[in-house]
Amino acid sequence: MKKFAGAILLLSISMVVVTSCGNNSGTTTATNDSTTTHDSMQNTTKPGVTSADWGESDGKKVFSYTLTNKNNVQVKITNYGGTITSWTTPDRNGNKSSIVLGFDNLQGYLAHPPYFGALIGRYGNRIANGKFTLNGKTYTLATNNGKNALHGGLKGFDKVVWDATPSADNTASLTLNYLSKDGEEGYPGNLNATVKYTLTDADELEIEYTAKTDKATPVNLTNHSYFNLTGDVNNTILNETLQIDADRYTPVDTTLIPTGKLEPVAGTPFDFRQPHKIGERIDQVPGGYDHNFVLNGGGSVRRVATLTDSLSGRKLEVYSDQPGLQFYTGNFLDGTIKTSDGKPINKHAALCLETQHFPDSPNQPGFPSTILQPGTSYHTVTRYKVSVEK
Ligand code: GLA
Repeated sequence: MKKFAGAILLLSISMVVVTSCGNNSGTTTATNDSTTTHDSMQNTTKPGVTSADWGESDGKKVFSYTLTNKNNVQVKITNYGGTITSWTTPDRNGNKSSIVLGFDNLQGYLAHPPYFGALIGRYGNRIANGKFTLNGKTYTLATNNGKNALHGGLKGFDKVVWDATPSADNTASLTLNYLSKDGEEGYPGNLNATVKYTLTDADELEIEYTAKTDKATPVNLTNHSYFNLTGDVNNTILNETLQIDADRYTPVDTTLIPTGKLEPVAGTPFDFRQPHKIGERIDQVPGGYDHNFVLNGGGSVRRVATLTDSLSGRKLEVYSDQPGLQFYTGNFLDGTIKTSDGKPINKHAALCLETQHFPDSPNQPGFPSTILQPGTSYHTVTRYKVSVEK
């Protein structure tokens, strides 16, 4: 007991040191147990950011950062993969649980779950045959999804350690930076990527992505959070209700590469212009939903999708300036991965709403361009807003 109390004191001190240092300068010796200690302290956490030592990857220190707003909503993010590991919000009865899939230790992520909560780059979703031609030169990418390149390749932005800088005041934001070197995973140019997460007092998680390059390169950054608004993976997401503001979608071939056509959703199971239960027509979609929707409007941040859950009363609204949204119903989850408390994560245990440019754009002249030129800036914003309907 005395030893336990001593450990808490030590960890508390190390957390203060790390927080005040403002980045991952490696001042603690805490282990994964710190997460538990950290949790117990969170009940009293003030708005702002705290951090706990999560171990190491690639010789770099990994931390778990807790962003807390004035409503005591908390989002945890690790600089390993820039990953959102939990998002704790109340249901209509005030009971709190996390609405995203995630683990409470680094080991869970080092086992390579399918992108749970991670930042995705340099190119979100697929590039056909892992090849594209730019300015007359053909580039060959690392392939990791049959013959295609998926989510940045074998070691995408989800598997690297980002440099992290938490906000120093009582705002809840975390800025992450990663320099992707020229040739990494086959992509041209040094790409300097910065992602700022901000948890606002309006219970929105804003994700602001910026990037610069020194050679023309495709860029398509997104976040791969898996949502289950019931807060319990024992419930599938098939009873949750979704609305997507898209008149068209991009049909795909058997390897999930777009055919290049933009087809109307009208009269298909892809018509979510009015809210529909996700399970209502999923049987008509072979394999389940894993499709890019062509969002209406564009150029500025607008609401693109709304997910509601009658069980918990929770509502998730997605706002973005992006042209596309990948709606994925966790079709490849099969129970082999377990939550930190041992529950199997089965098919349709969670869903993704990934704001993005269209898959395979570098090979699709009819799609909006994803090429970032040197001397210009990549900048995009997505906000996920959570509320409760009584
Ligand atoms: C994306 C893809 C899916 C799948 C998941 C990860 O959503 O579109 O096909 O690869 O990521 O398993």
